[in-house]
Amino acid sequence: MTLLSAALAVRENAHAPYSRFKVGAAIRGAAGGLFSGCNVENISYPEGTCAEAGAIAAMCAAGETRIVEVVVVADSPVPVSPCGGCRQKLAEFAGPDVPVTMATIAGARKTMTVGELLPGAFGPDHLEAE
Ligand code: THU
Repeated sequence: MTLLSAALAVRENAHAPYSRFKVGAAIRGAAGGLFSGCNVENISYPEGTCAEAGAIAAMCAAGETRIVEVVVVADSPVPVSPCGGCRQKLAEFAGPDVPVTMATIAGARKTMTVGELLPGAFGPDHLEAE
């Protein structure tokens, strides 16, 4: 199964009654595994989670810790790029060269790297004592 087909399939299960904006995300782990997630909203709006967060949680639950490729898909006029929080979440497990493909149901595609999406990322170096 391709990452795109997995993202399209899991998007169908999104719980998005408030925004009506369903998102699917799929991740390829370094060992070859495929992990997917959808956005899960909540009546207490800030408690909702993004599709990327769900895919990352599934990856960690399976014991994988490195991301080599990401696909995000939504039914939007232009490809949806991950929110700021999800960019930081992806950077936790993906190097700056990892490609993130943003796709629409209509067929638009845009690929950027994690480093392009999150330049100057907060990382382990920033925690080093002076
Ligand atoms: N959303 C995602 O799941 N991923 C993104 O990359 C962008 C936004 C979700 C959050 C919320 O459930 C809905 O899309 C509208 O913002």
